[in-house]
This record gives sequence, structure tokens and C-alpha cells, in this order.
Amino acid sequence: MRSLVVYSSRTGNTKKLAQALYDFLPEKKEIFPVKEAPDPKDYSFIAIGFWIKDGEPDPDAQEYLKKISEDHEVFLFATHGAQVNSDEVKKAMKKAEDLAKKGRIMGIYHCQGEVPQEVVEEARNMPNPPDWLADAEAAKGHPDENDIKKMLQLVEDINP
Ligand SMILES: Cc1cc2nc3c(=O)[nH]c(=O)nc-3n(C[C@H](O)[C@H](O)[C@H](O)COP(=O)(O)O)c2cc1C
Repeated sequence: MRSLVVYSSRTGNTKKLAQALYDFLPEKKEIFPVKEAPDPKDYSFIAIGFWIKDGEPDPDAQEYLKKISEDHEVFLFATHGAQVNSDEVKKAMKKAEDLAKKGRIMGIYHCQGEVPQEVVEEARNMPNPPDWLADAEAAKGHPDENDIKKMLQLVEDINP
């Protein structure tokens, strides 16, 4: 069984989760940023990581999620500025699940990811500042070791 980790990451948070997941997986395994990722058809287990942009999985990840088919076992992971239990995050994770729904979704993990200060400033200056801005302070320092540990526990349970 060949495993594939595909991630989309603008500021490095999701990449951090992707690398930890990749290191944890048994051989044979490969890891790619989403724009360089191969077609998923040759892999049986695929972990796909994305960041939340404007309330949705980022657009590059959305394109890749659509390629998932019946032959795939899938693990979804994500980072976001908003609180883990916010409605916005629940909606975005549901969208990712829907896009990959032909596959067998084995597990889902998501946590906050630190938002760079310039992005916070930019969002603050918008005519309608986004809701996630209120949670940006709490996102500082994430994903941290504990976030990674929690994700790997989930991955261990599905025994890829
Ligand atoms: C342009 C932009 C839009 C964002 N929109 C959202 C959003 O709608 N909801 C949210 O929770 N976080 C949002 N964020 C925060 C990111 O999702 C968060 O920092 C994430 O960890 C970034 O992942 P990355 O470091 O892998 O790129 C946004 C960040 C940027 C730069």
C-alpha cells in the first residue's frame, strides 16, 4: 500500500502538520505540496491538508479534493485562524468532506494556525473584518507539539 501526503500551505502551519504526519507513516510514502502533487490514482491512503481561506478550504486544496475516488482511504487535516469549534470551521470541514466524498474518509483533524501579523492588520482594515480575527490571538504558537500529538493519535488509530 502506498501512502501520499498532499498539503496546501501559504505560511507554513499546514506544512508543519503534513511533515509530522509524513514522518509518522510507515513506508512506502511520499509527500508533495498540492501544486506538485501526482494524480491520486496510484495511492491507496491519501492524507490531504489545507488551510481555511475566506471560510472555505483554500482553492488549490479544493481542486485536489475533487480528484478523490472510491479507491481511496482519506485522512483530512487543516489549520485555521478561527476557534476549532466555530461554525465557520465546521462548515469549511464539511465542505472538504463533501468534495472528497467518493473516498472513504478515515479521519479528520484540524487545529488553529498562527496568523502572521501583517495578515491580521490587513483583515482588521477591511470594511467588514472577518469573524476569525477575534480568535487570531489564541491561534498564536499553533500548531504546537500538543496539536501534532493529537493528530498523530488519530492517524495511529486508523492504522494506515
Ligand atoms: C488571506 C487569508 C485568509 C484567511 N481566511 C481565514 C478564514 O476565513 N478563516 C479562518 O479561520 N482563518 C483564515 N485565515 C487564517 C489561516 O487559515 C491560518 O493562519 C492557517 O493556519 C494558515 O495555514 P498555512 O500556514 O498552512 O498557510 C486566513 C489567512 C489568510 C492569509
